[in-house]
Amino acid sequence: MTVAHPSESSDTSLSAEPSHSLTGRLRVPGDKSISHRALIFGALTVGETKITGLLEGEDVLATAETMRRLGAEVTRTGEGAWTVHGVGVGALREPSQPLDFGNSGTGARLIMGLVAGHPITATFIGDASLSRRPMGRVITPLSQMGAVFHAREGGRLPLTLTGAREALPITYRSPVASAQVKSAVLLAGLNARGVTTVIEPVPTRDHTERMLRAFGAHVETETLPDGALAIHLTGQPELHPCPIIVPGDPSSAAFPVVAALIVPGSEVVVEGITLNPHRAGLYTTLIEMGADIEIMNQREEGGEPVADLRVRASRLHGIEVPPERAASMIDEYPVLAIAASFASGQTVMRGIHELRVKESDRIAATAAGLRLNGIKVHETEDSMTVEGREGHVDGGGHVVTHMDHRIAMSFLVMGLAAHKPVTVDDATMIATSFPNFIPLMRELGALFVSHGQ
Ligand code: S3P
Repeated sequence: MTVAHPSESSDTSLSAEPSHSLTGRLRVPGDKSISHRALIFGALTVGETKITGLLEGEDVLATAETMRRLGAEVTRTGEGAWTVHGVGVGALREPSQPLDFGNSGTGARLIMGLVAGHPITATFIGDASLSRRPMGRVITPLSQMGAVFHAREGGRLPLTLTGAREALPITYRSPVASAQVKSAVLLAGLNARGVTTVIEPVPTRDHTERMLRAFGAHVETETLPDGALAIHLTGQPELHPCPIIVPGDPSSAAFPVVAALIVPGSEVVVEGITLNPHRAGLYTTLIEMGADIEIMNQREEGGEPVADLRVRASRLHGIEVPPERAASMIDEYPVLAIAASFASGQTVMRGIHELRVKESDRIAATAAGLRLNGIKVHETEDSMTVEGREGHVDGGGHVVTHMDHRIAMSFLVMGLAAHKPVTVDDATMIATSFPNFIPLMRELGALFVSHGQ
């Protein structure tokens, strides 16, 4: 058995072993949602957008490559430092090759919106996980705006899209709480004459709205009498570049934070993550469970609220997570389930049906992984209940990650505090969102063992 980075070995599995206290300070990579948007919106400005702190994970690199193929000049000038020379709204070029989004639903769906508003044709492809994910949720509104799609059965990739010659502004009431759907419609609406409105049942992450405003677009929001949120965008703006500082990703920070909470004696500081209220649900939930998380140095950076977190190992207790909080922590349920396994009592998560259509079916993948490690879990179509073991988790499981980076990182975190090591079958997908997860966690004291040659 050798200790190596998984990319150095042919065997992609990785184990996490019971570790001593985790200590130290770390900075997690840039926010994935904001990084995609910085590249996409930068390409729609006229002039140069300077980006610092960009996440250089595979998902975002696929978006960077796509924006080049669509005509923007995208250049890496240093670590996390990128420039985008945009072509302006309405001036994208037709790509000569299929656009490959790898594992990234965000890249694929947002850029479908972008292409839908331009009179060009593009083919969208992705890996096996992305090719299973539903695209109907964006195909429906974008077709109403004039785009024409040829997709596989059930609206899956690969698909070919011809954008509208003249996109129609629409009012779209989204049946799903999805920032990707909202953003796709707004991106198409950028090149429509008139006001495009998206009505979301529950407010979702608002990075698109914030960035469009920063670039000079007219975006208004309105709470409707039924409590839904309407976002109105005036089409065909001239977008002006402004520098973008990408804050740390709260969805990536979730892994060292939960690790510090469950490994006895730990104390870790995570610096510079965004606590945008539409993203911070996990932290609220952990604090309700008794987590010792101190929110320090609250400030604003690049139009987003940012803070440092000091996290100390804590005795957690189970809670009922309010379903209306789901949108603000949608990517964090797998790692919350790990925290819940170490808590006393039950943790009940409801209103989480969207987890079924993420990089994997995250309810099924999380529940299966928990059971393999001695945790009782009950799942329904849209809920999961975890029976906590008050710090005593057996471990010893070999977890199937289904090409899902967050399943891999969640169960590696579990292994650091379980009685026996926890193994994940494939650690390579971690590079899609958190390429330096393994070295950063090792610096804190995490024991990871690779099985490759
Ligand atoms: C994202 C929105 C969420 C989230 C994804 C990133 C975004 O997806 O799960 O990781 O950047 O807009 P949905 O909008 O489909 O819920």
